[in-house]
Amino acid sequence: MSIPNHIIDQLNSQADLVGIIGKHTTLKRAGKEFKGNCPFHGEKTPSFYVNPQKNVYNCFGCGAGGNAISFLRDYENLTFMEAIQELSRQTGIDIPKEDNRQLQYKRRAKPTQPQPPSRPTQPPSTATQPRQPQQAQTHNPDSSQVAAGKAGTSITPDTHNTTQSATHLDNRDSLTPLGGQNNPEGIDHIDDTQSLPSDGYFDEAAYASDSGFYGYDNAPLADWPDVGDPSLTDPAMMDTQAYFDPGFGQQGHEHAPNNQNVPGAQEGNLYDLLISVAQFYQHNLYNNALALSYFKERGLSDKTIQEFGLGYAPRGWQHLEEAFPHDIEGLKILGLVRKSEKGRDYDLLRDRVIFPIRDNQGRVIGFAGRALDNEVKPKYINSSDSPVFHKQHILYGYYESRQHRANDWLVVEGYMDVIALYQAGIYGAVASMGTSINETQIARLLQLNPTLTLCFDGDSAGQKAAWRTLEVALPVLSDDKELRFLTLPGGHDPDTYVAAHGVEAMREQIQRAMPLSQYVFAYLSERYDLSMAEGKAKLMSQVRQLTNNLPKGSSFKYLLNNDIYQKLGGRKGQKNAAHDVLLNFDSEVTVSRQLELCLLFAPNLLDPDPIERLWQDSGVAAIKPHQSKKHMQQSLQFPAAPGWQDFNTPSLLQLVQVIKRLLPYLPKDTNAAAHFIMANLPAQAQQNLAKRWYSFWSNLNQRGIIDVDELVDDLLAQLILQALSKKISLSHSVVLTDQLNKQRQTLSIWLKKQQAEQATKLDS
Ligand code: UTP
Ligand code: MN
Repeated sequence: MSIPNHIIDQLNSQADLVGIIGKHTTLKRAGKEFKGNCPFHGEKTPSFYVNPQKNVYNCFGCGAGGNAISFLRDYENLTFMEAIQELSRQTGIDIPKEDNRQLQYKRRAKPTQPQPPSRPTQPPSTATQPRQPQQAQTHNPDSSQVAAGKAGTSITPDTHNTTQSATHLDNRDSLTPLGGQNNPEGIDHIDDTQSLPSDGYFDEAAYASDSGFYGYDNAPLADWPDVGDPSLTDPAMMDTQAYFDPGFGQQGHEHAPNNQNVPGAQEGNLYDLLISVAQFYQHNLYNNALALSYFKERGLSDKTIQEFGLGYAPRGWQHLEEAFPHDIEGLKILGLVRKSEKGRDYDLLRDRVIFPIRDNQGRVIGFAGRALDNEVKPKYINSSDSPVFHKQHILYGYYESRQHRANDWLVVEGYMDVIALYQAGIYGAVASMGTSINETQIARLLQLNPTLTLCFDGDSAGQKAAWRTLEVALPVLSDDKELRFLTLPGGHDPDTYVAAHGVEAMREQIQRAMPLSQYVFAYLSERYDLSMAEGKAKLMSQVRQLTNNLPKGSSFKYLLNNDIYQKLGGRKGQKNAAHDVLLNFDSEVTVSRQLELCLLFAPNLLDPDPIERLWQDSGVAAIKPHQSKKHMQQSLQFPAAPGWQDFNTPSLLQLVQVIKRLLPYLPKDTNAAAHFIMANLPAQAQQNLAKRWYSFWSNLNQRGIIDVDELVDDLLAQLILQALSKKISLSHSVVLTDQLNKQRQTLSIWLKKQQAEQATKLDS
């Protein structure tokens, strides 16, 4: 869906940018502009400016800058469309109808559904507590029927069961298997467990293939209100109180779907509906002693329960349909109501405590429901992605943390962890939506504070998640950013840790989180046998692979490699040591021959091609074209990096080609791999290499040298410098010569710097 550019421009120029940004940082007038502390990065002296004339913002500290749409997108994490919609709402500028349409649904009377079967006369044999069918039938005819104006049929829920007969809450017990005579329509029994996908997390997709079912249940209605309206405690009145009144006993309902009671078709808005549903769930929590005590037993105060808007979804299979009979379409769009194969609508979340999910502006956009019983699987069910709920953009707890001006962000695994930390006064804990956190989410948090702590459970699943997160985060981990890893002792998660050891101990744990380099080493050293050179080499090779994902030009890459190197007991200045070995046995050996031997020792250094990497790392690739007018035309493009063919050494070129071809098939053992490679070279080349190989290899081994990375970089840089010089001497163009000179200069400075770092390492 595309929004015309002129609309986008209008939205950007009409937006109250100072107001929008002013919600997140204090802006003070400074001449024609407004000035304040940058909301994108922590700073003490203001370097963030908003220009209301041009309606743009700019930070001279971190370089953040843009317009209203980019601010909403980058800071409030809205999608482009959400930002457009938000600005449209604020400015009153209409966006083309179809773009708004996705938030709308048709409100109408409850659609006629196939009639559910009569209630079986026998109570479910598995129920641990007897139900009270007589009383229920007398006092509480099925509310949905009342609502739809056709009383007296089918589902007849138990009610007035204030002691909550279902003290154990296995869903299966609340279902009556309906088959045979009692089930003329042949409706199947559904069991929550059947849909558990293999990754253990439950989601909307898993319900796609539901078989039909119907069950009856404890109706929530009788238990509902006693919050404000005494009439509603009167069962007689409740019978006519066909469904939940979202305005009841609550405050501030400007958003509630208007006129729930009017059956005629009209437009409904998903955000409004979500508010009403959230209130419905909240309402139910306070009318269900068991659900409320669940939260209480987990240590949550009333205040916390309120602040997070926690609730309870009743047991009934159709409680939302009953409460919002005109909003079925909206409920379906939100994934809260599903359709079974038999064509019956049913609620996704039943007999679960409810965590409303809010977006960065605090609007409810979805729900997570947790089983009250740990044995019930899946433990959590999240409502599905919808036009307003995009899980990959949402961090649970982000909005609440922002309300408390959180500055230290902590990624945790679960909703309860977020809430427990919040209640303990540790703000800034966020969790993703049951999937692992993604690159954009991490980038977002790192923008708010360059240090981000990741907290994962100590079990193996948690540790796997931590490693995956590390891999995901690397591409956005520029030199100024830092990731820290926290694994709580004793198999605790933040929730249980705070409960067991208190908030101060938790704060200390966060303080003591491991820096990334330490974490990487700790993680990998458990997976390789470091008593062997081979194990060390494998670990080092994995670190290299990992650090290849760091941003281009990252010096952290070098530092991390080095740090781990040292931790492995790598000798200081292995490069020089390796170099000595090369010169030891043959002082005549050329740079390219040295490189050949190194590549034979570490063929995987050719994947990815090290020339390109060096070109990037040294900053040569980033040299910007000269902007002077005179050279404008020709200077747009700098020459690309030289290739292996430019080094004018056929034997090296040949070796590189052979290695690249063989890479996937190489044996793990270094010596065996080298022989395998040599066997694929022409006889002469083979002889030349073999002559020196054994001595080189055994020498490195004796000295415990496991790594020739730096030496390869050094040698390769030398070859590239030679190639550049040659190109310069052949160049007939002033511009080209100038460019090549710049490249040579940059590379040579980089090489000197690397060598100097080597030297300091030797000294230390
Ligand atoms: P955990 O299984 O670690 O549970 O799930 P937890 O957060 O400690 O939950 P409590 O304390 O037992 O209540 C971590 C997160 O993974 C997602 C949820 O987001 C949960 O908070 N999850 C877990 C699911 O989405 N579905 C599940 O079935 C389980
Ligand atoms: Mn937990």
